[in-house]
Amino acid sequence: MEKVRLYDKTFRPFIPNEKIMDSIAKTAEKINADFRGCEDIPILLCVLNGSIMFTAELMQMLEFNCELVSIKLTSYEGTGSTGHVKQAMGLTADIRGRRVIIVEDIVDTGNTIVELKRILEEHGAAESKVCTMLFKPDSYTKDIPIDYVAMEIPNDFIVGFGLDYNEIGRSLRDIYILDE
Ligand code: IMP
Ligand code: MG
Repeated sequence: MEKVRLYDKTFRPFIPNEKIMDSIAKTAEKINADFRGCEDIPILLCVLNGSIMFTAELMQMLEFNCELVSIKLTSYEGTGSTGHVKQAMGLTADIRGRRVIIVEDIVDTGNTIVELKRILEEHGAAESKVCTMLFKPDSYTKDIPIDYVAMEIPNDFIVGFGLDYNEIGRSLRDIYILDE
């Protein structure tokens, strides 16, 4: 695999697609173990835009009926968090009384998860779990448990498989890390 150039920065290969898919399958297995045979129809909450690829792959591996709902939050500019989470688009459906599985691309500082939990509570969700493709444990400062983690990574900036650098790089099928 070769390095990629996105605007002013260069990224080197970090996690190949096969490994990503394998970790998603393992995560789906854990979710299936908890939800298979459930009588309700849980909501899969795709946190746009970053989570779009992960959500698409994950939901094909789930062995129970679920409903897809989206929300769009933003907090990153360039390669860092602004510390402010903005709601660019609200929940696309009523979630009152429902169990929700939040599907995130990456949990970094945890600000987004805190805001998501607040929004879900405000809209009357019965329960919510957090599922993330990537987790940066060295950056996470919150108490909210992250229920399902596909892969843990160091505190570096990455792109690909839905994750962007100033909105580009999302379409890369592998994950790349900032090459300094
Ligand atoms: P948090 O609110 O700091 O946990 O950050 C969550 C959001 O920031 C994620 O959903 C991503 O959209 C974005 N983000 C965090 N780390 C990265 C990264 O390494 N690359 C690209 N986006 C990131
Ligand atoms: Mg995100």
